[in-house]
Amino acid sequence: MNAPLPTPVRIRAATDARGRPLRDLRISVLDRCNFRCPYCMPADQYPEHHPFLQRHDLLSFEEIERLARVFAGLGVRKLRLTGGEPLLRRDLPLLVAKLAAIPGVEDLALTTNGVLLPRLAAPLRAAGLQRLTVSLDALDPAIFSRLSGQRGDVAEVLAGIAAAERAGFAAIKINCVVMRGVNEGEPLKLAAHFRGSGHLVRFIEYMDVGTLNDWRSERVVPSAEVLAQIAEHWELRALEPGYRGEVAQRHAYLDGAGEIGFISSVSVPFCGECTRARLSADGQLYTCLFAREGFDLRGPLRDGHDDAALAALITGRWSLRDDRYSERRDELRGAIRDRVEMYHVGG
Ligand code: GTP
Ligand code: 5AD
Ligand code: SF4
Ligand code: SF4
Repeated sequence: MNAPLPTPVRIRAATDARGRPLRDLRISVLDRCNFRCPYCMPADQYPEHHPFLQRHDLLSFEEIERLARVFAGLGVRKLRLTGGEPLLRRDLPLLVAKLAAIPGVEDLALTTNGVLLPRLAAPLRAAGLQRLTVSLDALDPAIFSRLSGQRGDVAEVLAGIAAAERAGFAAIKINCVVMRGVNEGEPLKLAAHFRGSGHLVRFIEYMDVGTLNDWRSERVVPSAEVLAQIAEHWELRALEPGYRGEVAQRHAYLDGAGEIGFISSVSVPFCGECTRARLSADGQLYTCLFAREGFDLRGPLRDGHDDAALAALITGRWSLRDDRYSERRDELRGAIRDRVEMYHVGG
């Protein structure tokens, strides 16, 4: 009889100070981006010579794979690759193939601005990438251009989505950050465009991540407002969460044309179920999108710690985790001035 395949060794299930398990790992593969979205990397704050991470700062694919295996051993089941713009990292499909082979990883996804998909969708799919999320904040070319910091062309992103479809990606998630006075008319157009396509548009409340995007609460368009706008045109029905801790609240079109989703971390925070850890491209572990600082894993990794020692470091840090920034925004916002930037920890 064949011996059963080895499953990842559970060194100690990681649960944080609020009883939240560690289930998802979002891995940033570099901090650079070919866009300058005003809510993430405003162009005036990030000129071309901005000191982004250098090659030797970045975890190698072997180092990322090693850490991902250790995380999988601690209960992580979902991996998501992010950036900056992850498709700018050379040979990314090689990393995807390594991650896809890790026992225990049930879900492997990636978030991209879509521009490089015509070249990379097929190799990523072939390497084992299961799901894709594409950022698309507007269909109107001028508004889109503004929201990419004048770097992007909406036609390129739509071509990227079409290439991903041809490569076999189904039910692609389309993320739209909604900003008052900038693109609040776009959700309706995006909903109309993607209805019936099999893809799923999600509208995201503009968040105060980082310190440089000049966030103000007046610029947040609450999800309830976007939902009302769309519901004026098509009847919708709220759906139950697909899994515990789902970030997006989903609504289905009654006529069967698919679903839309809302990520409302400002108006309806979801910290209570947050099982996400983030690994920056230079190997820092962040336990919250709004964290001040990371916990260094690259040093111990390069100093020769074995897997058990790395696992002990991660569980030790996770067990102290008490983050719930979005639930305490009003109280914490003024007090914390040095938050990590979104392009550094990934979305
Ligand atoms: P799947 O359910 O795995 O498809 O992904 P998801 O719903 O987590 O969505 P995705 O990873 O695409 O996240 C979408 C956006 O939601 C991110 O870009 C962030 O803007 C926001 N978001 C995701 N996770 C968090 C989180 O832990 N906290 C907050 N405040 N926002 C989050
Ligand atoms: N608020 C909300 N979402 C943001 N993203 C980046 N910055 C912000 C912000 N300030 C999200 C976008 C993008 C993903 C990579 O991160 O949805 O699609
Ligand atoms: Fe780049 Fe994504 Fe940030 Fe926009 S949101 S600047 S595409 S990393
Ligand atoms: Fe998780 Fe922090 Fe987001 Fe709350 S604010 S959901 S703790 S990442």
